[in-house]
Amino acid sequence: MPGRYALLARLASHADNVPQVLIHLRFFGNDTLTNVTRTAMSHYEVQKKRRAKFIEDWRSNYRSVIHLRDVEMRKTPRGLTTGVYLGKDGDRPVRTVDAAAHEIEPGAVTTVHRHSWDAVMLCVGGNGWTEVDHARVNWGPGDAIHLPVWSWHRHGNEGESRARFMSFSSEPFMDIPGFAMIEEGGHSSISQLAGYPSYAASSPGNDVYARRIRRLAAGLDENRRGRIHTSWDELEFLQSPRGTRTTFLLDRAVGYRTSGLTIAMFEIGPGRAQSMHRHSGEAWLYVVEGHGHSFIGDTPSEGENYEWAKGDLIVVDHYSWHQHFNDDKKTTAKVVRVHILDTLLNTMNALCYPLNLLEEPPDDIRSKQTGDLGTIEWPQVQRPVWP
Ligand SMILES: [Fe+2]
Ligand SMILES: [Fe+2]
Repeated sequence: MPGRYALLARLASHADNVPQVLIHLRFFGNDTLTNVTRTAMSHYEVQKKRRAKFIEDWRSNYRSVIHLRDVEMRKTPRGLTTGVYLGKDGDRPVRTVDAAAHEIEPGAVTTVHRHSWDAVMLCVGGNGWTEVDHARVNWGPGDAIHLPVWSWHRHGNEGESRARFMSFSSEPFMDIPGFAMIEEGGHSSISQLAGYPSYAASSPGNDVYARRIRRLAAGLDENRRGRIHTSWDELEFLQSPRGTRTTFLLDRAVGYRTSGLTIAMFEIGPGRAQSMHRHSGEAWLYVVEGHGHSFIGDTPSEGENYEWAKGDLIVVDHYSWHQHFNDDKKTTAKVVRVHILDTLLNTMNALCYPLNLLEEPPDDIRSKQTGDLGTIEWPQVQRPVWP
């Protein structure tokens, strides 16, 4: 079929600048069918260009701080006003955890929906409520809520002022293998909507198929018994050797079962700093209160300082050295850090092994960075306010 090969060559010559292009032709013989796939360049070159473009796109999208002023809030048909800090829909693509702010007006009730990823809510202003499957949670500033995978949920505000919360979700992670989907339920009551997808719950025997069914069912059962709410009033902050006082908001250690999402709050004392360190996974840091700056660098001495203030999101890239400073001499800075630990960060740890997975300076350098821990003046913990 020389004519068809000539056509293939002509198509290929136009495709020189498009490395991913595939030209697929079918050749029919008398009684045979052959699939022939030709690429404009070799597998090696396609793969090399694709990897280079991926890294180039990644670097051009990377930000160390997303400032509150750069987050555009827009009304959505769900009844929320939403702005994206990190995520494809805000033109800041990420591959692990996205971050967005949501506001709900007094008297408003959103539509109910569910999705194939999970999310955590960090309430930062006003008072509202969230219905999660058949439970209803009333929340205020500083509260944290888990929205499990495929749970129906909606939000409402019966207060007199606008309520605001942050969300951090595993949607980018689920989107990579093509498992990200949303189901909308409008204003239906949750009892009218379909329940969880059914799954094989048990199978007798010790063959590999029966073992797989039991293992997966046990994991799903456990996830559905996880905790869904932490109230600000029950938090207890403890001082850490890094010079901060910290508490888990939502984590496996305090009864949650997430896709790995974990959030903890830490406070930096007036005019003080957290000691420098680095870890294999990335971290998002949402500034709940205060202002300061962060050093982020490839080595402990080569990097840049980035200023931040209330409502900003600091992005610490994987394996970057970082140190956070509170630039206010009178009040503490409150920061909420977000990881996706059990899944991606631990996978990253396993892949990076035997690199040092959490690197901190020797004790004498660390104590210089934090100063004398006994001299930090910790005021009584205050509930956050917005704005
Ligand atoms: Fe949702
Ligand atoms: Fe860190």
